[in-house]
Amino acid sequence: MDHSPIEDLQRVLVSEKQILKRITELGKEIDAFYHGEEVAVIAIINGAIVFVADLIRQIRLPVKLDCIRVSSYRDSTSPQGRPDIIDRIRLDLKGVHVLLIDDILDTGNTLSEVVKILKTLQPASLRTCVLLDKSTQRTVDFEADFVGFNIPDEFVVGYGLDFAERYRHLPCIGVLRPELQNPPEWS
Ligand code: IMP
Ligand code: MG
Repeated sequence: MDHSPIEDLQRVLVSEKQILKRITELGKEIDAFYHGEEVAVIAIINGAIVFVADLIRQIRLPVKLDCIRVSSYRDSTSPQGRPDIIDRIRLDLKGVHVLLIDDILDTGNTLSEVVKILKTLQPASLRTCVLLDKSTQRTVDFEADFVGFNIPDEFVVGYGLDFAERYRHLPCIGVLRPELQNPPEWS
């Protein structure tokens, strides 16, 4: 093998160790918040896959799991308008405590739109959790209830976050080298 994907990172922003430590804390925060009530965890895939897989194993509450598929970035590094809901959830959320999880909160478009849709399903409560928050980038008025890390406005990959579906498997979160963002052969 001549080239490892980890070498495509300019620098590591959050290490694997830091992520796992913070997720353990988040699990405790979520347990304390819901006081033993059952929670329906809704993961926005693909981005939240890795985060949710680790987070739910730190939650001691009864949990139901489902996924929703949303598209907004379409293989570029800048947001392209409103997200499309591609695959809907199958769980009945009426009267249920829902915890919606995404990898990163950036402009806020994705989560605010998905929240609007889930509210029409009449959950008992609806909270949101993200691993990363780029709070300087918000274009809509939206904050998550549980946040792993606040990060600066840089394009990051790893631990579920992708560029054109690549790098999701990296165990840490890092800044992708600028020359690898939107290379001509991928457009
Ligand atoms: P928002 O709708 O602008 O809040 O963006 C949320 C979505 O954009 C996330 O679900 C991610 O898929 C994607 N996204 C935002 N920033 C990044 C990044 O730095 N790297 C990879 N994906 C990102
Ligand atoms: Mg993405």
